[in-house]
Formats: sequence, C-alpha cells, structure tokens
Amino acid sequence: MFQVNDMRTSIQQIQRYKNNNELFPVLTAYDYPTAKIIDESGVPMILVGDSLGNVVLGYESTVFVTMADMLHHTKAVVRGSEKALVLADMPFMSYQTNSSDALINASKFLQEAGAQAVKLEGGETMAETVDTLVSRGIPVVGHIGFTPQSTYQIGQRVQGKTVEGALQLVKDAQAIEDAGAFAIVLELIPSEVAEIITNKLTIPTIGIGAGPNCDSQVQVVSDMLGLFTDFVPKHAKPYAEISNAMKNGIGNYVEEVKSGTFPSQDHGSNLSETVLNELKSRL
Ligand code: KIV
Repeated sequence: MFQVNDMRTSIQQIQRYKNNNELFPVLTAYDYPTAKIIDESGVPMILVGDSLGNVVLGYESTVFVTMADMLHHTKAVVRGSEKALVLADMPFMSYQTNSSDALINASKFLQEAGAQAVKLEGGETMAETVDTLVSRGIPVVGHIGFTPQSTYQIGQRVQGKTVEGALQLVKDAQAIEDAGAFAIVLELIPSEVAEIITNKLTIPTIGIGAGPNCDSQVQVVSDMLGLFTDFVPKHAKPYAEISNAMKNGIGNYVEEVKSGTFPSQDHGSNLSETVLNELKSRL
C-alpha cells in the first residue's frame, strides 16, 4: 500500500544527532496542513500525539482517545509530510493489556497508517512490551516522567522530585533503552534528573518540561502556536498567536457578510453578456 519513502528521517539519523551532539526539534501534528508546514520547516520527526484528545477533540484527558482516532489522524499527517519520521502515539489500553495486543495495535500504525514508529508510555513495567515490538521490527520511542494516560492516578504534576522518585526515573529510562527503544520522551521532570538520564543513556532523550539538557525538545504544536488556549502549560513557549489571528479574521468575515461587503463580484463568476441576454429572453 505504501512505497518506502527513503527521504524520511531514519531512526539511524535520530541516533546520529545524539552521537554528534546535535540538538533536534520534534513537534506534534494531527492534520494534513499542519504536518505539511512542519515538514517543510525541516523538523525531522513529527509526533502524532494522543494529546490530540485535548487539543483537537476537546476531551479532558488522553484516556478517551481511541485507536480509530489515532489511525485517522496519523494517516493525515503521513499524507502531509515527506521528509519527517512520523511517530504515532499508542492510545490508552492499546498496549497496556498485554504484549500481543501491543504488537497487533502497533503494527496497524505502520501497516495501515504509514507511520515509521510508535511511542508508548511507561518505564520498567513496559520494558517487556517495548522488547516485543522492537524484536518484531517495530521502532519504539518510550515516554516516562509525567505520563498523561495515567493522569487520574498520578495527577498532572512534575515527577521525580524526590531522591526515590528520581532514582526510579533513571531505572525506567535505562530499562526502556535496554528493551530496544530508539529514543525516549522525558515529560515534566526536573532539569537535573533529565540531565542525569541524558548523560547516562546512549539513545536520545526528547524533553518536554524537562529543561534544556535533553538531546531534543518536543512541543505540542497547538501550544507553541497559541492555537489552543483553554490551558497553556508552563513549559510551552508561544511562538505565534494563531488563535488571535483566527479570531480577527473570523470577526472581519462576520462583519462583512452582515454588511453585504463580502462577497464582491471578484469572488464569484459571471455569465457572458450574450448568454445572459439569451437567458433573459427565454425566461
Ligand atoms: O501526546 C503528546 O503530544 C505527547 C507529547 C506531550 C510528548 O506525548
């Protein structure tokens, strides 16, 4: 169904970034036009995050995101990109049940949606699942620290602030690397802990709310563009104010339709004088 596109970033390239001490950006995308802009901006890896539950579908948590949602949006991002590696998030309970479910669901992202890799949340307890996927040929990115799919259990807060908590994160990161993941997301953890993990691991760390000492950074595109304004996390830096631009544009459209200024003759088409005259004569 898909032709292998060897223009896309490979997992080997992602490793080379770390080996060469080259910082690299990662962004989320959920649709075709956004993926196209991100891809054309030279971002080497696009994450179809299950954050789409919050920022696109309006759910209060990622727990409600389904495989169908993720496959649908991953396909759009794959269509919109040519060069970036597309990484698809495995949704809640598509991999936590057992390794066999994880394998079946992960394969759908590659086979049906055209992604090149999957991401799943969890540390030591998920290492066996990561190993199952990787040993069957599915590239995996881990995700530890604040793991949004466990939000009802752990709350939405920075993880690893105690010695025990930080040590557990180090163990989790090592277990995910040992299981064969090619990168790992560190979300909402203290900078110092992220730095320790980044120095200890041979695979790249991708930080979000984890300070500047990671090998890479990921942001939710709707946060960094000021598109989703219900809740703006502390770690998000607004690089644009898309929501305001949209409000202005929509406000102008509303005014112009109400006042009859839009559409003008330029926005439509006209009959030729001959056709118009003939038409009138036959009415
Ligand atoms: O779903 C998502 O967007 C993520 C990032 C926050 C890393 O997992």
